[in-house]
Amino acid sequence: MSSDVSPNHAWLARSLRSVWHPCTQMKHHEALPLVPVARGEGAWLYDFEGRRYLDAVSSWWVNLFGHANPRITAALTEQLRTLEHVMLAGFTHEPVVLLSERLSSLTGLGHAFYGSDGASATEIALKMSFHYWRNRGFPGKTRFVSLRNGYHGETLGALSVTDVPLFRDTYAPLLGESTQVASPDWRQARNGESAEQVALRMAGELAGHLERDHAATAALILEPLVQGAGGMAMYHPSYLREARRLCDLHGVHLIADEIAVGFGRTGTFLACEQAAIRPDFVCLSKGLTGGYLPLSVTLTTDEVYAAFYDDDTTRGFLHSHSYTGNALACRAALAVLDIFEQDGVLESNRAKSADLSRLCEGVARHPRVRDFRNTGMIWAFEVQTEDPLFARRFHQLALDRGVLLRPIGGTVYFMPPYVIGLEHMDILVTATIDALEHVA
Ligand SMILES: Cc1ncc(COP(=O)(O)O)c(C=O)c1O
Repeated sequence: MSSDVSPNHAWLARSLRSVWHPCTQMKHHEALPLVPVARGEGAWLYDFEGRRYLDAVSSWWVNLFGHANPRITAALTEQLRTLEHVMLAGFTHEPVVLLSERLSSLTGLGHAFYGSDGASATEIALKMSFHYWRNRGFPGKTRFVSLRNGYHGETLGALSVTDVPLFRDTYAPLLGESTQVASPDWRQARNGESAEQVALRMAGELAGHLERDHAATAALILEPLVQGAGGMAMYHPSYLREARRLCDLHGVHLIADEIAVGFGRTGTFLACEQAAIRPDFVCLSKGLTGGYLPLSVTLTTDEVYAAFYDDDTTRGFLHSHSYTGNALACRAALAVLDIFEQDGVLESNRAKSADLSRLCEGVARHPRVRDFRNTGMIWAFEVQTEDPLFARRFHQLALDRGVLLRPIGGTVYFMPPYVIGLEHMDILVTATIDALEHVA
């Protein structure tokens, strides 16, 4: 490494030579530099030359309590001294038992099956649902329904129920068939229609589909309240209540993919709580470990579990991943749940949500901004621009102002870690308004 190359540039060049970065056309990095990160602290990420960036998207929505959180780090350090990992087939350990018990009491779903990423959690739910119906004597229930504009991950099974063309279209020939029904996104409101009326109108399409196709349908999968990767579409909880009712009526499972919205993002621990419903499956990941380690979990009911409990091996759920129930990841998750309990996180987030919404009035009123919206600790708006490269350009404009934002198409969103304070909010809002002034 020659001494006249800055540390940032040295890491950047080495990364581009050897690392294939996710969700990226690598050639774009000829114009848009990577950001080499040396360390994180609280809501901030620091590069190798001391420049800092406010992590306003919680590093792809995983971070809850800040980078290098001392309490999670302490719990992990202790766990490292005890047990890093043991295979979960034929073995068990304290962190996985404690975590499963606590998640069960938080969700009302008593059986926890672990994976490593969000996509594995949704695939597990899809496979379990299909296998449940097969074990119960309905092998014809092989199909899945999801919402238009929904996102459930990008492995082949998860992508089969994902409806984001950018991720899906290239791989369409490899994917299983699934049906998409209308999204309840409130932006589709007709004159004078409330968000709830939109939700109920859109549920009509689900009702029609299930009436026709319930015999062949295993499950409906959806992101409760906010469709994240599809562009932060928000909708009224009445849709979830209606979806639950229709699934019950037609003998179809309801899978709540709470990977992005769980762990307090929408204001309640689970988004489904706002509709007072219990899904048949809940998928969790991202915030589960506070952004420390990859871990996901699919939780389900006694009824589903019982359908697999048998002398016959093949009636069991034979799915596995090597790192299923990793002890370190489970310990991080336990530390996250401790923080929720000890710090009254949901309550203090309510005040933070109100503060940032108030500070965002200038953003919402900006002449380029449309459909400013907020649910809990998620804010989003559309930016009117003719620039086809808006997302990349705005990302760079925000980075130049010390803030990490990563628009989805023309949608800018904030999904900050819960440690965000008023001083961070000021920086975020000022940088956003300033960046908006420079949009082409
Ligand atoms: C709702 C939802 N489901 C599933 C996933 C996939 O999770 P992962 O990226 O960990 O595979 C995501 C990721 O953004 C998500 O937002």
